[in-house]
Amino acid sequence: MKARDFWVVVFLASAGLLPVVQGTGLAQTPSASLDVLHWWTSVGERRAADQLGALLLHAGVQWNDAAIPGGGGMAAVKVLKSRVLMGDPPDVAQLIGSTLTEWADVGLVVPLNAVSVRQRWPQVLFPIVLDLVSYKGNVIAAPLGIHRINTLLYHRGLFARFGLKPPRTWADFETAARKFSAAGIKPLAWSDEPWQIATVFESVLLGEVGPALYQELMVQRKSAAWLDPRVDKALQRLRWLRSFSGNVPSERAWTASARELMDSTAAMVIMGDWASGELMAWGASPNTDFACVAVPGTAHMHLYSVDTLAMLVNGRHHAALQEKMAESLVDMPVQLTYNRIKGSVPVRRDISAVSLNAMDGCARDSWETFADTGASHHPSLAHRMVADEAAKDAVAHALWRYLTDDLDAALTQKRLAVAIRAS
Ligand code: BGC
Repeated sequence: MKARDFWVVVFLASAGLLPVVQGTGLAQTPSASLDVLHWWTSVGERRAADQLGALLLHAGVQWNDAAIPGGGGMAAVKVLKSRVLMGDPPDVAQLIGSTLTEWADVGLVVPLNAVSVRQRWPQVLFPIVLDLVSYKGNVIAAPLGIHRINTLLYHRGLFARFGLKPPRTWADFETAARKFSAAGIKPLAWSDEPWQIATVFESVLLGEVGPALYQELMVQRKSAAWLDPRVDKALQRLRWLRSFSGNVPSERAWTASARELMDSTAAMVIMGDWASGELMAWGASPNTDFACVAVPGTAHMHLYSVDTLAMLVNGRHHAALQEKMAESLVDMPVQLTYNRIKGSVPVRRDISAVSLNAMDGCARDSWETFADTGASHHPSLAHRMVADEAAKDAVAHALWRYLTDDLDAALTQKRLAVAIRAS
């Protein structure tokens, strides 16, 4: 156990929290509601969370909302950590990555092994998903949906008006971008918020460096690999992309970029497919108003971020209810309904052809690529699938400096090499 974990344990023990080990809640009288800390606060995210709440209520679990606004969970994760350190963890939290495994190590997470057996998770979940929520022989979170990060959403009407084909290659992208610029339409909606830059960068990186080097950079976190000339190419591409975003880019919410697509003032946006959920919530149709392609260079690749809810140990003895919630989240009808609204896709591989056909184009391509064992699958750094908060933030900061201070690409490669090891 690391020193930091040790002090967490000491603190929690002194707060009277640790004796509440998994399973003891079953003997208590559960109250019917669970506090859920998450960051789904945009219109589309809210709609998906509300729908989830309604479905859970039907199953006898009341969702007590403890949402913390802020795209990408920047604020929510900080609030969650401080609530845990104060000895007041919520019952359920949108949590993944090394924070989750560290907390599981010190007994702060309710294992969901019984649910996993009952609901046959090894048989029905994608192996990558099961692996993400498994740690040292325990299942430590309930998976909810798979987002595809390497998504480029484009405005169908604008592309049709200018006789343009979907931007599947950078050459297609450039042709379209030049036409839109000439007509006074912003080619690419953009934000300089660090996590959004990191989100675009990792998709571009995957396309420029290819699956093998991406794994070395992000998963194996080989510092020296960051000095590869292909990383330089990806950085140049990032700067090039930003040059198509109109005036001086600013740090703004991701919903502002989606709004530009909705209002026909921008033609494209590179964003995880939660942007599709947002556009749908505003009344746009994924089949007629907008469509998705994989970010150029990443066809048949799935850069994923899996949303998961962890059940936390606290003094409220809710284990039975927490297990019930976990089971309901993975139920097929809940999976299909929630993910259709959220813009993500089910974590289950046993969905029927009928359900698959009912998916919109963005979702269907995402699910089929994820399900295809011949495709390549890559975890998102920007969305906590591989590194801890510190490494993720350090990478995002280095990229942000590169763009906003116009730093040299070679210097940025060195900074990234250091950042990736920040944890
Ligand atoms: C989450 C999504 C969320 C997005 C924007 C991502 O990290 O996985 O569920 O919609 O951030 O807030």
